Amino acid sequence: MTASRRKHFIKTFGCQMNVYDSGRMADALAAEGYEPAERPEEADLVILNTCHIREKAAEKVYSEVGRLRALKEARRRAGGEMLIGVVGCVAQAEGEEIVRRAPAVDLVIGPQSYHRLPELLRASRAGAVVETEFPVEDKFDHLPAAAPARLRSAGPTAFLTVQEGCDKFCTFCVVPYTRGAEVSRPVAAILEEARRLVAAGVREITLLGQNVNAYRGQAADGAEWGLARLIEALAGLSGLERIRYTTSHPRDMDAALIAAHRDIPALMPYLHLPVQSGSDRILALMNRKHRRDDYFAIVERLRAARPDIALSGDFIVGFPGESDRDFEDTMDLVRRIGYAQAYSFKYSPRPGTPAAGLEDQVPEAVKVERLAALQAELDRGQARFNAATVGRRLAVLIEKPGRKPGQMIGRSPYLQSVFVEADPGRRGEIVETLIRSAGPNSLIGDIIAGGEGKEHRAMEAIS
Ligand code: 5AD
Ligand code: SF4
Repeated sequence: MTASRRKHFIKTFGCQMNVYDSGRMADALAAEGYEPAERPEEADLVILNTCHIREKAAEKVYSEVGRLRALKEARRRAGGEMLIGVVGCVAQAEGEEIVRRAPAVDLVIGPQSYHRLPELLRASRAGAVVETEFPVEDKFDHLPAAAPARLRSAGPTAFLTVQEGCDKFCTFCVVPYTRGAEVSRPVAAILEEARRLVAAGVREITLLGQNVNAYRGQAADGAEWGLARLIEALAGLSGLERIRYTTSHPRDMDAALIAAHRDIPALMPYLHLPVQSGSDRILALMNRKHRRDDYFAIVERLRAARPDIALSGDFIVGFPGESDRDFEDTMDLVRRIGYAQAYSFKYSPRPGTPAAGLEDQVPEAVKVERLAALQAELDRGQARFNAATVGRRLAVLIEKPGRKPGQMIGRSPYLQSVFVEADPGRRGEIVETLIRSAGPNSLIGDIIAGGEGKEHRAMEAIS
């Protein structure tokens, strides 16, 4: 019998939900006797957890598999083995095609079937296995609870998926097809998982969902809870200091959730609220189900509830039919809102989505130009936002070592990275920090107090 345990290597692409799923798969594999490998070369099983949201996703996966195939052959020559799994949204979208085009792949699993990983893994020894159904059971009910050791090593912040899938059908987006319909996890399962996270030292939880603010989960008494109620319950867990959630749709930003930003100190004053475009005409073509004025109205209400709330967003430039005038509307919206941070993308036609078939696709050169202009505006906004925190006190959650010795990096309530001089032993502490200087992507500060973690207050001006 060999004494060495089998090893796995999971490479994660794409969004935070994939990061979360990879962790849950690692837990499922741990229960099967696998431990993590440092490098793919050392692994008996390599899993690519893929993303299909934007262009060339499938091509990237095929070239990645090409590289792995060489490693697989080398291991086989040395008398070992390497199973290759492709999971996630490309697996869902491509299915059988993956094993046809890349016979080195042993296992293809869509995002809703991860609980079947151990069983499918065993089956794959008899030939490639493809599983892309949307099963009726909830995968989370069948996945083992996270291993405390993995949670502890992951540090003081964690993701927790509470909702998955999307019923909105924006015309550019593959998510409703790759992740399926909106499903919310029951309240009790989420609270239980949160308790485990906190017991393992987690101080900040980010609740995840493709439409997280559409959360509608069953409570123990059968009642249906929205996200605000869930956050309120989580805020009651002792030791959990910070709560965030992402990604939200403007349509689901209800009064209770806006009030939660006013009433719940542990709910951080930061919101990722994608609008995609500032043009009503393009918003309609995107099937976003809201107009630009609706978005302004929501932001106004949020700021009334929580004046210092920092906003983040996603933007797509070059959606089919987008004129210079439409693009100007986006630039105007960006200037008016004043984002603390944002992501912007060139529209990329995704196979099977309605917008991919629209005429009037925007030429690449125009997309490139608009993206550069938008990014420059967003960068200016971010720099302005960061600069405005200089000379103020922010509560910083210390997360990990910084670039230089003696330096640690943490996060402000507004999700800014803050470099401070601190001992590595202070990881997980929330410290009051005086912000000394600001760059485009991070801040530098000096710790002035704290460590008890009772400090939720986002910011106080120093007089
Ligand atoms: N092309 C470009 N960007 C896209 N996104 C989603 N689909 C596409 C697409 N087809 C962007 C949206 C979304 C983010 C996660 O990715 O801005 O909010
Ligand atoms: Fe995609 Fe729109 Fe659903 Fe977001 S809301 S996941 S962009 S379809």
